[in-house]
Amino acid sequence: MKKLCLLGLAIGLASHSVWADTKSASIENKDAFVSNLMKQMTLDEKIGQLRLISIGPEMPRELIRKEIAAGNIGGTFNSITRPENRPMQDAAMRSRLKIPMFFAYDVIHGHRTIFPIPLALASSWDMDAIGRSGRIAAKEAAADSLDITFAPMVDISRDPRWGRTSEGFGEDTYLVSRIAKVMVKAYQGDTPSAADSIMASVKHFALYGAVEGGRDYNTVDMSPVKMYQDYLPPYRAAIDAGAGGVMVALNSINGIPATANMWLMQDLLRKEWGFKGLAVSDHGAIFELIKHGVARDGREAAKLAIKAGIDMSMNDTLYGKELPGLLKSGEIQQSDIDNAVREVLGAKYDMGLFKDPYLRIGKAEDDPADTYADSRLHRAEARDIARRSMVLLKNQNETLPLKKTAKIVLVGPLAKAPIDMMGSWAAAGKPDQSVTLLDGMTRALGDQAKLTYVRGANITSDKKVLDYLNFLNFDAPEVVNDPRSAQVMIDEAVKAAQQADVIVAAVGESRGMSHESSSRTDLNIPANQRDLIKALKATGKPLVLVLMNGRPLTILDEKEQADAILETWFSGTEGGNAIADVLFGDYNPSGKLPITIPRSVGQIPTYYNHLSIGRPFTPGKPGNYTSQYFDDTTGPLYPFGYGLSYTSFSLSDMALSSTTLNKTGKIDASVTVKNTGKRDGETVVQLYIQDVVGSMIRPLKELKNFQKVMLKAGEQKVIHFTIEEDDLKFYNAQLKYAAEPGKFNVQIGLDSEDVTQQSFELL
Ligand code: NOJ
Repeated sequence: MKKLCLLGLAIGLASHSVWADTKSASIENKDAFVSNLMKQMTLDEKIGQLRLISIGPEMPRELIRKEIAAGNIGGTFNSITRPENRPMQDAAMRSRLKIPMFFAYDVIHGHRTIFPIPLALASSWDMDAIGRSGRIAAKEAAADSLDITFAPMVDISRDPRWGRTSEGFGEDTYLVSRIAKVMVKAYQGDTPSAADSIMASVKHFALYGAVEGGRDYNTVDMSPVKMYQDYLPPYRAAIDAGAGGVMVALNSINGIPATANMWLMQDLLRKEWGFKGLAVSDHGAIFELIKHGVARDGREAAKLAIKAGIDMSMNDTLYGKELPGLLKSGEIQQSDIDNAVREVLGAKYDMGLFKDPYLRIGKAEDDPADTYADSRLHRAEARDIARRSMVLLKNQNETLPLKKTAKIVLVGPLAKAPIDMMGSWAAAGKPDQSVTLLDGMTRALGDQAKLTYVRGANITSDKKVLDYLNFLNFDAPEVVNDPRSAQVMIDEAVKAAQQADVIVAAVGESRGMSHESSSRTDLNIPANQRDLIKALKATGKPLVLVLMNGRPLTILDEKEQADAILETWFSGTEGGNAIADVLFGDYNPSGKLPITIPRSVGQIPTYYNHLSIGRPFTPGKPGNYTSQYFDDTTGPLYPFGYGLSYTSFSLSDMALSSTTLNKTGKIDASVTVKNTGKRDGETVVQLYIQDVVGSMIRPLKELKNFQKVMLKAGEQKVIHFTIEEDDLKFYNAQLKYAAEPGKFNVQIGLDSEDVTQQSFELL
């Protein structure tokens, strides 16, 4: 084994000579180097570089290595250890031109250490914590020989029926754009060519979060203004931050699939935004152009995709099969292929692979003795970041924090669910390394433990749903199902609850319920779990709900029934410890919702920054012809930006430094924030702006800045925000990005609804 790998390394080093020999181009000059290499490539070698394959059990390794050595594969994904990837790189070094492979993976919220799901990370509003999670993920992934991730996923999601809401950073353009930048910088470090960096490929370009009805893979139909204003900025932010790659969305946009969309891929991405990196299709998307009904057959699909500028085809063979014929017949030009090849080679260059194909694979003798060793995890950081990402929704009568001396009964199907704790897209995370809530609470209590655990309910009693969830996992059914009847389990839980001082119920979704393809029509906690909650409430004991879920759930009844609600999302490897820290007050919760929680599915969309309307809802006489659903209360259950603490905060003395702003000037908006409670704690001061009158309808308010502030009990601080003309710009009907003179309202609050307001005039 060792011998083989040393041989690999020798080949790797020898390979430099091929590139060093290219006289006209030094390896220090990217463009010249890539052009020179391309001059030496045959058509087949070029097309081989455009092929990105998934490594799965169905692909015999030997065959793959043969294909690589023949120059027929440019990169792989889903192969994630050094010993797995080294022989493939060795094979590439045996190919005629020794062009290195790259190795990709979905490193979305951690690699070996799993951090909270992206929606949870966004709930921290803590750019430092989010950045740390990305940096650690990159280091772990790079140490496992990975060169590139398909992340960050920055699709704005305003319809929580969409299962992939869990994978994004919420509903708000400004917040998601800030996070997009932080994540790209975190993955790529100072440069994507560093040994401990991986390249970021932002996804899913574009508008995937706006699929109609929240049904995955559905169409998107959207006005250009809405795209530019609300949905495109996060992708742009990632690209401006230097993301080396883009993954193209599976959906269509205004009638044209993204994968064949010349406007999207050429006019917008490359010409308008100046993107020069790698564009990768999503899984099988080129082939799906036939299903979309824009390509007659594989040949036409390949033609549309290469013309649009899809550089690499993920897991279909159409480029290999069809591009030579298309070129011969003149339906595509050599430049179409060359452009794609240039981007692939350019990305490999930027990953540092031409200088050292084994940059992240390293030497065999340095391979970790046990790839899965616990010592490779970053547990302390995962725990810290997880507890920052939880949102306290309700805390009546200071039910929380719990006393460690209390008699506690822990119930619910998610109390002991290591796989769910990790959330979906858990990369290389191992369920047996994740800390459940039961583990976490038991450890926190130590000798004092008066903790009883009873399951109380399954995730669902609906056989169809259970079958769906278990079908999702190819290895083993992942949703554990207790065969006892729902009533027997509830009775057992109630009996235990009657003996306790307080009940903690871990309820919500299994991770597969908030995943790719897992759209829902109903956002309630599954019915059998709701029955459990009702029965627990009836005991009269204080009831704490620990929610685990990947999207906002409609918890209208539970809001009434529970004394306290902690939204923990899916909080990763250290989730159980982090939740216990919050439950017992070892950490004071500070998260804020990055997405609105609706009262019902019928209300969706409920995002906070909707456009002004002619007849806004005005409470008063019934039937007063204002905008509402007459059969329910108007407004969300919990607004965007909302989240409580074990202490309380007040805002006062809001002031603007001027009532006018000229185009080159600045206004200072200040406010005093005070910790008025008895504990130290953090909160997020949020700044919203409303453009009162414009040439187009403008939103009621838009988040424009925020600061997370730590205050000791009784402490106060004056917070300052700077407002400039740039903060007031928007895309008008002609898609011109400009600010318009007139009145602006500035609102400062601790959530998007409860704000104080002052105004100024842009001259
Ligand atoms: C399909 C998903 O849509 C995409 O997000 C992911 O990166 C690829 N599969 C690869 O796993």
